[in-house]
Amino acid sequence: MKTFDVYPLFNIEPVKAEGSFIWDKQGNKFLDLYGGHAVISVGHSHPYYVSKLTEQLSRIGFYSNSVQIPLQEQLAEKLGKLSGYESYNLFLCNSGAEANENALKLTSFHTGRKKIIAYSGAFHGRTSLAVAATDDKGIVAPVNETRNITFLPFNDEHMISAITEQTAAVIIEGIQGVGGIQVPTTSFLEKLETQCKKTGALLILDEIQSGYGRTGKFFAHQHSGIKPDLVTVAKGMGNGFPIAGVLISPEIKAKHGMLGTTFGGNHLACVAGIAVLDIIKNENLLQNAATMGDYLSLALTKTEGVSAVRGNGLMIGIDTEAPAATIRKQLLEEYRIFTGYSSSTKTIRLLPALNLKKTEADTFLEAFSKVLTSQKVIS
Ligand SMILES: Cc1ncc(COP(=O)(O)O)c(C=O)c1O
Repeated sequence: MKTFDVYPLFNIEPVKAEGSFIWDKQGNKFLDLYGGHAVISVGHSHPYYVSKLTEQLSRIGFYSNSVQIPLQEQLAEKLGKLSGYESYNLFLCNSGAEANENALKLTSFHTGRKKIIAYSGAFHGRTSLAVAATDDKGIVAPVNETRNITFLPFNDEHMISAITEQTAAVIIEGIQGVGGIQVPTTSFLEKLETQCKKTGALLILDEIQSGYGRTGKFFAHQHSGIKPDLVTVAKGMGNGFPIAGVLISPEIKAKHGMLGTTFGGNHLACVAGIAVLDIIKNENLLQNAATMGDYLSLALTKTEGVSAVRGNGLMIGIDTEAPAATIRKQLLEEYRIFTGYSSSTKTIRLLPALNLKKTEADTFLEAFSKVLTSQKVIS
C-alpha cells in the first residue's frame, strides 16, 4: 500500500528538532519560522514537554470518555486561567476542523436555527460544515454544498445587518491565516458582537491559527476586547500532539450525548496540552511573542522589496514585490529557512515558535533581505 498522494512535498526528511531548528537526514540544519503550520508553539522537543509526555505514556496513554480523566479538568482549569475564559466550559476533540464542526453544530442545537454566516477568505477546515464555511470552492465536495452558509465580505461593516434572527452562528478567524494574514478591525468585531447579541446569533471565534499566545495575547480577538460565545482552538495547543477544543459560554448548556469523540481528551493529549500551558506561563511566552513580533514586523517594513506587512505578534504576513512562492523556495533551498506561503494572496507567512530568539529572527531578516535583493537583480 502507498499513501494517498494529496500533499506536494519538499524533498526534505526531518529526523531531529530542537527549539526553532530542524535537522534533516543528511545532517543539514534548518531554521523553522513556520512551526509546521503554527503548530509548534513552545519549540520543538521542549525538554519539559518531552518529559511530561514520556512519563504519562509509561503510566497510561489512553482510555475512552467513559471513565474519570482528571487531566481533562486540570487542562480546562489552566486554559481558563491563562486565557481569561475561566467561566467557560471546554469540549476536547482532536483537530481544528473537528473543533469548528462541533462549535457550529452546538450553535444550531442551542438556537434551533440553521443559518451560518462566514467571511470571504475564511478557512475553517475540511469536514462537512467547516469546509462549507471555508471560502475555497476547490475543497468543497458536492455533498458538502449547503444553502445554510452565507459568505459576507471580510471587514465590511455595511453587511452586518445580514446577521438576522435566522442566524445560528457567525464564524470568523481571530486573524485569517490561510487567507493571507488578514486582521479584522476592532470596530468590525465590535459590530459583529453587538449584532449577534441583538439577533440571538452566537459568535464563534476560530483561534485555531491565531490563538494560543501567537499574537502576544492569548487570543487574537482579545486585542479588540470582544467576548465571543465560543472559541475554537487546536494547532499550538498540543505543540504537535493532536488535540483541539471548543471553549463554550456558560449560557450554552451541555446534555449527555450531545457531542462526543473517541480520542478527544485522552491522557496523552491532555498532558501535552497541560505541558504547553505550563511552558507558555512559566517562560512568559506571550510577552516574547509580542516583543519578537514587533521586532520582526518593524524590521520587515523597512526592508527593501517588501510591499506590506500584516498581522500581530508572531503571526506575520509579508507581501513582496517578487513572487512569494519563489522567495519561499529560495529561503528554503539557499538559506535553509522554513516559511509559509498563502497562495491566494501571494503572501509569505511567518508562524514560528513563541520562544523564537532575537538571533534567530536576525538570521531570517538577513537572509530575507538578501533573497529580495537577488530577486531585484534578476528581474
Ligand atoms: C483558522 C483555521 N481553522 C481551522 C483549521 C483546520 O484545522 P485542522 O487542519 O487541524 O483540521 C485551520 C488549519 O489550517 C486553520 O488555520
